Amino acid sequence: MPSVVVLGTQWGDEGKGKIVHLLGKQADYIVRYQGGPNAGHTVVFDDKKFVLHLIPAGILIPKKICVIANGVVVDPLSIYEEIKLLEKRDISVKGRLFISELAHLIFPYHKIMDIAREESKAGETKIGTTRKGIGPTYADKVERVGIRLVDYLEPETFSKLLEQNLLLKKHFIEKVSTVDKVRKEILDQAKFLRPFFKKFACDTSALLNKALDQKKKVMFESAQGTLLDIDFGTYPFVTSSNPIAGSVGSGCGIGPSRIGSVLGIAKAYTTRVGEGPMPTELKDSVGERLRAAGQEFGATTGRPRRCGWFDAPVVRRSILVNGIKDLVLTKIDVLGGIEKIKVCVAYKYRGKTYKEFPNSRAAINECVPVYETVPGFGPISQDIRNFKDLPVNAKKYVQYLEKILGLKFTLVSLGKSRDETISTSTKSIW
Ligand code: GDP
Ligand code: IMO
Ligand code: MG
Repeated sequence: MPSVVVLGTQWGDEGKGKIVHLLGKQADYIVRYQGGPNAGHTVVFDDKKFVLHLIPAGILIPKKICVIANGVVVDPLSIYEEIKLLEKRDISVKGRLFISELAHLIFPYHKIMDIAREESKAGETKIGTTRKGIGPTYADKVERVGIRLVDYLEPETFSKLLEQNLLLKKHFIEKVSTVDKVRKEILDQAKFLRPFFKKFACDTSALLNKALDQKKKVMFESAQGTLLDIDFGTYPFVTSSNPIAGSVGSGCGIGPSRIGSVLGIAKAYTTRVGEGPMPTELKDSVGERLRAAGQEFGATTGRPRRCGWFDAPVVRRSILVNGIKDLVLTKIDVLGGIEKIKVCVAYKYRGKTYKEFPNSRAAINECVPVYETVPGFGPISQDIRNFKDLPVNAKKYVQYLEKILGLKFTLVSLGKSRDETISTSTKSIW
């Protein structure tokens, strides 16, 4: 089947950008199906670094067609700026970037609402969002008051919908600004951006179905990770979309029968940004060491990421809910130099052992990780290209993870750039 979903198996930032940039070479189309500018996907090549928020990482591979499908929420100004930034760096998107007319748009009032909720003292849960307006935009979509790109492109339709929304959001807007100011800002922007968006807007469902009919290879690039999924993540400390593979169908307008394989990316340890439970978090010098060695700072917000040991129940949940058949291990180099490495194989809560990730809030919040300790390894040279050349204990670590997860890694990543990767299987991902 010529389609593959590439997704994060933990709390995001697993290295999706790097892996899509590496494997996207084999694809014809690279597609974002959910999330929005909350994502930050880093791609490093030829001593250059790019951080993509809304545009698929495939845009950095010459000639690839990139699609922002209907499941994504798009901030008109931020995508305009992202495109301009790419063009400044000689990456042309002309003729190879398409945005779904059905994608919902993020407006300044969504950001105001996101921030108001985060700062609310009224007992609402602080999530530690990226403050990009993601939650309120998806909420509008479900509430059936959202504004889609197709609506934005029709000035009259847009003005009516905008008025309806300004009225609904008046209470929030007036806490920080005035409705008149916000209306003017949005209308001025729309006037300027509308001709620009006309070049990219189309029916991306038709585009992708046609590509699949023509046996083109399509890669779906998730944002966030499964533990941030609105259904299967650590609710309510999640994002407001479904990063899981199952949402590719609704997020792109293609039938489930057209989705081929699912490739899960797992970091060799665990990180999380924002609030919410993280059973293996290390609030000590080892956690700090992982953060420093892995440069674990948010690609979108710059916030320090919380770091901890590899958590097998987390990745097992991802394997299960996504139907993952192949895994990629990233950032094994970051563990180099740690004498003893711990791996969480299960949780203990009120005398019961959980091998699988529990659903109860109390269990997730209060569980104690059950660790197994494995010997560490020295620094990993980023020049290594064969599995056999890795330090013995690094090889053993990879094999140990494979054993406890019940799946093989097809790639092991040991550096930022796409060359710094070891292929451990000859099996095709397609
Ligand atoms: P994404 O959101 O999943 O695309 O991941 P991010 O880009 O937010 O974070 C991953 C970070 O790790 C980026 O800075 C990457 O350049 C970097 N990275 C990716 N793979 C590796 C690796 O194998 N080793 C090291 N040291 N860094 C890596
Ligand atoms: P990538 O694609 C890591 C987190 C936020 C917060 C929660 C909700 O780079 O892996 P939101 O702004 O979505 O309402 O915030 O989700 N979050 C991410 N964490 N990587 C991401 O994206 C994230 N996108 C959102 O920190 O905890
Ligand atoms: Mg990221």
